[in-house]
Amino acid sequence: MRNKIVAGNWKMNKTLEEGKILASEVVNMAADEAPSDVTVIMGTPAIHMDAVGKLVKDAANVAIAAQDCSAHEAGAYTGEISVSQIKSVGAEYVILGHSERREYHNESNELLAAKVDTALAADLKPIFCCGEALETREQGDDVAYKFVCDQLTASLFHLSAEVMTNFIIAYEPIWAIGTGKTASAEQAQLMHAEIRKHIAAKYGQEVADSVSILYGGSCKPSNANEIFAGADVDGGLIGGASLASRDFIDIVKSF
Ligand code: PGA
Repeated sequence: MRNKIVAGNWKMNKTLEEGKILASEVVNMAADEAPSDVTVIMGTPAIHMDAVGKLVKDAANVAIAAQDCSAHEAGAYTGEISVSQIKSVGAEYVILGHSERREYHNESNELLAAKVDTALAADLKPIFCCGEALETREQGDDVAYKFVCDQLTASLFHLSAEVMTNFIIAYEPIWAIGTGKTASAEQAQLMHAEIRKHIAAKYGQEVADSVSILYGGSCKPSNANEIFAGADVDGGLIGGASLASRDFIDIVKSF
């Protein structure tokens, strides 16, 4: 059985005080309400990770993620954050390849392959994002499937089958991020099935079946249930709706 995961991505939101309040609410509600087989993750700004890491330390089902990491281990890289720094504040996960990083920071598939390796070497679990832009989707579903599978090939397919086992991928169509426009549950399921088929072709069905594939893009309490019902949808990466504890936990309960 693969892991069910709901990960919040706070992006560049919340002051430290606001973030601590949100994180405490999430920890408390998750303890009372989250299904025991769902891992809840908060992807906080780097500046919050130490404080939020302390808040989740004793929570059985809540963990934290960084929103990015450097491909380098340490050194003269002003403004960057290293995997050992991320680990040192208790984070277990790192979101890599978010479309906003790809677009605004020119992150290439090659750079992301290096970041994946650096994260894994530090025992940090990547939540690896992929997804197509609207103009790609408008060229046809098959073009979108190929685009996303090519992203995965370029950044992940150098990994061993052992490392790929239980890996976490987030499919986020760029046209659905922060736009209020979600992919339909059917579109999400079809893409997730294509991703799993692509992984199976390289690593075999058993490895493919162990990979958690999350959907992201305007996921909210009102649509999470339908989206998570897809056979190949193992949870979500949640932006806007992760900024309100009630909405976030309602999504966590949507399996
Ligand atoms: P959204 O963001 O839920 O606000 O659309 C999702 C994401 O970018 O991870």
